[in-house]
Amino acid sequence: MTNKYMYFIANWKMFGSINSLNSLDKVNKFLKKFKKKKFVKIIYCPPNTLICSMSKMLKNSLIKIGAQNCHQNTTYGPFTGSINPKMLKDAGAKYVIIGHSENRLEGETNKLINSKIKNALSAGLKVIFCIGENIKEKRTKNTKKILSKQIKFGLNKINNKKDILIAYEPVWSIGTGIIPKPNDLSETIEFIKNKTKKYKVLYGGSVNPENIRKLKSINNIDGFLIGGASQVSKKFIDIIKKTYN
Ligand code: PGA
Repeated sequence: MTNKYMYFIANWKMFGSINSLNSLDKVNKFLKKFKKKKFVKIIYCPPNTLICSMSKMLKNSLIKIGAQNCHQNTTYGPFTGSINPKMLKDAGAKYVIIGHSENRLEGETNKLINSKIKNALSAGLKVIFCIGENIKEKRTKNTKKILSKQIKFGLNKINNKKDILIAYEPVWSIGTGIIPKPNDLSETIEFIKNKTKKYKVLYGGSVNPENIRKLKSINNIDGFLIGGASQVSKKFIDIIKKTYN
């Protein structure tokens, strides 16, 4: 996998202050010198409060910025507390995460996710579309059924391999330190690729510098969506380095 084009997406969730920009600077400096940089695509998804300052800071960098969610409307409107894809783009975001399980838990349905994806694409953002089964669905062997449903409804009337990355994130793996068995993961990734007719598929859930060697040995993964470990620049850099040696 040493010469494979891979995505490393940092999902900061509801963490990060203006001081966190230092950590970004370290990653930016690392990337400039990294021998394999032409294979590495880094996308930072900070909270909305930092999108503008991060994108200014990264103006001439290879690192791109994304948001963690958006409102389903592309137009402006009376939706207190919400931000539409156009506004995210205006602030400097190029990507947006949609369908993260933490938001599905708050009531985001497949239908809502579908309209968010459509409108984010029409506003010119690229989409990181999250899918994944919870522990009960895994135990009852319903993983494929759930993923099929999330894909079918989430991507209803959408066919855009260029601007959508799928992130497979088993809910039981997020923030728990537990990752799927390599064979199971490889099989699930293949399943998603076949279902979607070969969209790029990333893995997310407890990716860290300790387990990255195991994960990178799974050949069909196109990158990683990294939560906790992405908030510490050293860990994030280690993950990238270890992927390539
Ligand atoms: P984690 O989060 O790496 O902290 O498990 C991943 C995610 O939720 O995207």
